[in-house]
Amino acid sequence: GSLINPTTLDSYEANTNCLIAVNAHGNIDWIVHDVEPSAIQQTLLQKGLLIDDITFTALQDGQFMMPGLVDTHTHAPQVPNLGTGYQYELLDWLETFTFPMESNFKDVAFAKRMYPSIVKKFIAAGTTTCCYYGTLHLESNKVLAEIVHSLGQRALIGKCNMDRNCPSYYIESSSSQSISDTQEFISYVRSLPPGPSDDPDRPLIYPVLTPRFAISCTKELLSSLKSLVHADTHLHIQTHISENLKEIQFTKELYPESDHYAGVYDLYGLLRNNTILAHAIWLQDKEIDLVKERKAGISHCPTSNFNLRSGMAPIGKYLDRGLKVGLGTDASGGFSHSMLVAMRNASITSSVIALQHNPTNAAIDEGKFTNRQLPLATLFYLATKGSAEVCDLDKQIGSLEAGKSFDALIVDVTGIGSTDLERQADVNQDPRNASTTGMSSHMSSRAMLEGMLEKFVFCGDDRNVSAVFVQGKLIGGTSVAGAST
Ligand code: GUN
Ligand code: FE
Repeated sequence: GSLINPTTLDSYEANTNCLIAVNAHGNIDWIVHDVEPSAIQQTLLQKGLLIDDITFTALQDGQFMMPGLVDTHTHAPQVPNLGTGYQYELLDWLETFTFPMESNFKDVAFAKRMYPSIVKKFIAAGTTTCCYYGTLHLESNKVLAEIVHSLGQRALIGKCNMDRNCPSYYIESSSSQSISDTQEFISYVRSLPPGPSDDPDRPLIYPVLTPRFAISCTKELLSSLKSLVHADTHLHIQTHISENLKEIQFTKELYPESDHYAGVYDLYGLLRNNTILAHAIWLQDKEIDLVKERKAGISHCPTSNFNLRSGMAPIGKYLDRGLKVGLGTDASGGFSHSMLVAMRNASITSSVIALQHNPTNAAIDEGKFTNRQLPLATLFYLATKGSAEVCDLDKQIGSLEAGKSFDALIVDVTGIGSTDLERQADVNQDPRNASTTGMSSHMSSRAMLEGMLEKFVFCGDDRNVSAVFVQGKLIGGTSVAGAST
């Protein structure tokens, strides 16, 4: 069937009649483009395969395949709060709505009751890899890891470290308790067994060190985390940075010894190639340089940034400066668990920035993306390959290529927005079509697939996600009975 695959920050490939071979471990063996249906058997034979020896799936009209969406930042225990409390800014919102909700997960039975439907929501939305913040509670975080593991999603899961500036009912009792619980959680996640058909060299679930943000961690705790990460270079790290002006001011007061917010994390060894920095709205130029030098990645969470009036992250500028950038839903600062919604708000953020700085969309010499609306190709890249880079998993996921894991979606856009006939008429008038075929009356396959991707990104939802594969295994989508919540 048709395949749409990100290639660079501003390009993707879109081909009909692709043949993808996935092996028993769920990895992609090979991909061939432009195979007419009549040539399938022959192509398989050339690859040493007989059609009777394989499970063959053909996509239908209106369907395409793409890599799974990668959510670089979200909070599983905040999902019950989606849509709540946006009259507040960050620090008051945490105090009033977020900490009370998260504290409920002290009760393991509550976690067992809530987490299955929460994780299923992310899977149904097409998120094949998800970076979850849990709560501070060791046992409930284990429950979250077990549930994600049993549902087959790829994930980074973190136990929050937070031993100061939090309410008495939701705070760790000491930095030593925080560290020992963290170590136990890391060992627990790393010992989750691979499934019978999983590639033992490609774990689905990784622990991620999760100091909530600088404000909620004592220097004693950060010093211990520094030793921990120094001894464990494979350990992922996630935290929040430069989200809200009052938060930045308070961080400065707590850490006068550091030049800036990024400097605090750098002092404690927390900026490196597998660090995910959520929000990063207000970074100064020297912080951008530092983040780049350390090869840390930015998780752009635009839905949340609007809801909590935190600000608009200058993503175009970060891309021109060479930072790794991915997208995050940041539930429940974000009101949706869907990466499609994150893509739309990333688009709107870039449009507003462009309107402010470059209202005529004039050619500007600040770079390719700075102060410009991000094109569809860039939104697509950020949600897949860019997010995989931010998770330091881009050798394995983020695009569909030989050697990578088969983490993929079958998307069905039939009936979105317009009938098929109307859509065909729309595409026929699309100037992109004329330039690719030279004939405006004939729809090129590239223009058709571009139109389908656009429809999915801007108008689609769970109903258009027919199948969700992780490591070759079908784990969700509308084609799987009982998969949605
Ligand atoms: N900073 C510290 N904790 C949080 C959180 O839960 N959500 C967001 N958006 N920012 C934070
Ligand atoms: Fe967050």
